[in-house]
Amino acid sequence: MQTLKFAVLPGDYIGPEVMTEALRVLEHVAKQDGFALAYEIAHVGGAGIDNHGKALPAPTVKLCEASDAILFGSVGGPKWEKLPPNQQPERAALLPLRKHFTLFANIRPGLLYRELIDASPIKNERIPEGIDIVCIRELTGGIYFGQPKHTTELPCGDTQAVDTKVYRKSEIKRIAQVAVDTARARKKRVCSVDKANVLETSVLWRKTVTAFFAKHAPEIELSHMYVDNAAMQLVRSPNQFDVILTENMFGDILSDEMACVCGSLGMLSSASLGTGKNSLGLPFGLYEPAGGTAPDIAGKGLANPCAQILSAALMLRHSFGLEKTAARIEVAVRRAVTSGVRTADIALGGKSVGTRAMTDAIIANLT
Ligand code: IPM
Ligand code: MG
Repeated sequence: MQTLKFAVLPGDYIGPEVMTEALRVLEHVAKQDGFALAYEIAHVGGAGIDNHGKALPAPTVKLCEASDAILFGSVGGPKWEKLPPNQQPERAALLPLRKHFTLFANIRPGLLYRELIDASPIKNERIPEGIDIVCIRELTGGIYFGQPKHTTELPCGDTQAVDTKVYRKSEIKRIAQVAVDTARARKKRVCSVDKANVLETSVLWRKTVTAFFAKHAPEIELSHMYVDNAAMQLVRSPNQFDVILTENMFGDILSDEMACVCGSLGMLSSASLGTGKNSLGLPFGLYEPAGGTAPDIAGKGLANPCAQILSAALMLRHSFGLEKTAARIEVAVRRAVTSGVRTADIALGGKSVGTRAMTDAIIANLT
């Protein structure tokens, strides 16, 4: 029997609440499909700060290193807001984790079921069938990590801050490959987003992506778009995109825009895949919901567990090769939601259920 060895990092506020439900779904499919779970839980984010004095404690990193994948909740919130920026849970936990495991490929599906189009701020007639796009964001390069990065006091008395945006051809090629793989399983269209009319890194990005697709994926339809235009097109007509391929900071911004266009953050999952392979020879990855810690509803049993459950499905697909089980979970979530069982964020003013009942409905739909 296959045993799934993964690290569980629930994090803060609603993080542990929705994680409990994702684990419940995993236990259920494990029994149905005949595999075993061997996970360990560790502190991260604010929980790391409170218990170990650090957002990313050493034992947590060690556990992740000994695992085949990381199932991540969400981190941060008002309790730690007064800490210096570089000690804040989000920045001091997520960024070093991404760098440590070279999690260079962030895959964020932008999926809105037809039945939920009223949850989107976009007019219904523009998205009659819902939304189905994917954002592939480069995650370990660009302005997030480039050096130099510092703030200095100038002799003239002014203060100056510097961030540096760096990209190598090799980094661009490896994320282009992920976009190709993703597009091959979808509508075979990739739109690469850059700012090549202004930035050197974007000129290299566009040149490298163009050459890579010509050589390795001539069957994929490749287009290019400037990031300002892409931000506009995403709200005008999101389904003109199939796969969006972009660099770290543009992807950060566009993927939040995409999430908003898709109605509720509570539905959106993500996978961050590394260069490293796990003990199964599959990509090591970190899987997390896009929605954040939602401190306002924490502890009330109201949070939408779907994004965490869908992130667990992505983990089964990418890091454990369990495509069928992953797809079964995705279908069950869709069935539960479209049958009318919904948490408040997607209830559209109608009747809503809590975190646990939402999960019960998903489990009941696991056929
Ligand atoms: C995200 C988040 C992070 C990022 C923050 C929390 C550092 O916004 O995953 O999109 O900017 O990458
Ligand atoms: Mg972001």
